[in-house]
Formats: sequence, structure tokens, C-alpha cells
Amino acid sequence: MLSIKNLHASIGDKEILKGINLEVKAGEIHAIMGPNGAGKSTLASIIAGNENYEVTDGEITLDGEDLSELAPEERAHKGVFLSFQYPVEIPGVSVTNFMRTAINETRKANGLEEMPANEMLKVIREKSELLEIDRKFLSRSLNEGFSGGEKKRNEIFQMAMLEPKLAILDETDSGLDIDALRIVANGVNKLKSDKNAIVVITHYQRLLDYIVPDFVHVLLNGKIVKSGDASLALELEEKGYDWIKQEQEA
Ligand SMILES: Nc1ncnc2c1ncn2[C@@H]1O[C@H](COP(=O)(O)OP(=O)(O)O)[C@@H](O)[C@H]1O
Ligand SMILES: [Mg+2]
Repeated sequence: MLSIKNLHASIGDKEILKGINLEVKAGEIHAIMGPNGAGKSTLASIIAGNENYEVTDGEITLDGEDLSELAPEERAHKGVFLSFQYPVEIPGVSVTNFMRTAINETRKANGLEEMPANEMLKVIREKSELLEIDRKFLSRSLNEGFSGGEKKRNEIFQMAMLEPKLAILDETDSGLDIDALRIVANGVNKLKSDKNAIVVITHYQRLLDYIVPDFVHVLLNGKIVKSGDASLALELEEKGYDWIKQEQEA
């Protein structure tokens, strides 16, 4: 599904990504771990099409299609979802109305008609039940006064509604409490299917107590220096990133 080959990217004259290779297939969950400043969020932003970064070499393809010339919205319409794509507060626009607009924009971009109102309601009901999202939450203004956990709930709800092919969840160091971690993990586990792929970016191992990834990659100084199965995350938790750094230097 997602194929990244020899990706190099810079901001200004600073090279941040220094040759990333990553293959993600449908049905897989990948975790990308690494210390602060390694380039994890940069990688996520570049896949989603953030234009602040300059890709200087390499390629990113989604189902064989080169993404490089596509704007962020076009990538989204093709099924790329990045968490916190819409962190803005929109007073007066409810979570539900926002989703309705987002879904219909995606459908339009893919040559489909708007989703009929009754079907939309049905989908909203199904997904909110699946994720145990309260009705009251759906009528609140988007992100206005949302707690960390509520922002996560909104993000996971967006993911459930948009049914992306490729979801990238950047669970930064932002002090996620255990409730927020559970919301994300629960959502990922429920939304995982053999048609989609999920990339979870995390600094800490603890999120992976709830989500069991098929593959774990360690990103260090702009490169993936080690890949393994879920046990790699435990090893990292135990030995820290210095262990990998030392291994690299040896
Ligand atoms: N917009 C930017 N301007 C300047 N430097 C940046 C920018 N974004 C990221 N960087 C730098 O790139 C490196 C990687 O950052 P980032 O991708 O956020 O790391 P991570 O998510 O792994 O903590 C850091 O050294 C950071 O300072
Ligand atoms: Mg980050």
C-alpha cells in the first residue's frame, strides 16, 4: 500500500530525513518509535503532503501511485489520514457537521454524490457506538474547549468516519494520559481491517501495551536504523534508545 524509498527531506538547508525506506501493506499496523527530534513527525507530515518540507530525493507511492505532485487535500481524498489534520477550533460547527462536510468533500473529489442524510445518520450512529462516543459529544463545537482525551476521541471518530486506506497517528510526546491512550488504542484496534494500514508514531512504549503492532521501526537521526516485531518495542523500553545508538556506532 505505502512504499517509501530512499526518502530525503530538508527544511531550509537542514536535512531532516536521510534516506527512509518503509513498506507498509494492507492489514498491517506499524509503529515508528524514536527519540525526540529524530524526524518522526516530519516523516508523517511529508507523507501527508506538508509543503514546508522539501523532498530532495526518493519517492513515496500509495498503491503504486506517486504522491509527490499531490496537494495535501488530494492525498486525503486518496485515503491518507494524518491525525491532527484539523486541530483548529471551529465555534458553531459541531463535530457531526464537520464530519458531514469532510465526508461529502471526499466523495465529491472521488466523483460520488453526497451521502444521503439518512445514510449519514446511520453511519454516524454505527461508528459512534463502535467507539463508545457519547451523543452529546457529537453536537459539541469542534475542538472548542476539548480536553486531551476529547481531542483524541474526535480524531479517532474522524478516522472511523473517513475510513482511510492509510492512517498515520502521530502520538507525540504531548503528555497523553492513560485515558487518551486507551481511546486511541481502542479505536485503532477496532478500525484495523485487511483493507487499511495504520502507522502509529510514538515516543513511548506504553501505547504499544494496548496496540500490538506487526512491525516496529526505530527512527534515529533521520533514518530507520532497526526494524522488528512487537518485541522490539519492549526491548527499547528496557534498554532505551542509547542502546541502539551504541549499536549503530559499534
Ligand atoms: N519547521 C521546522 N523548522 C525547523 N526545524 C524543524 C522543523 N520541523 C522539524 N524540524 C527539526 O527537524 C528535526 C526532527 O523534528 P521532528 O520531525 O519534529 O522530530 P520528532 O517528531 O521525531 O520528535 C528536529 O531537529 C527539528 O528541530
Ligand atoms: Mg514528533
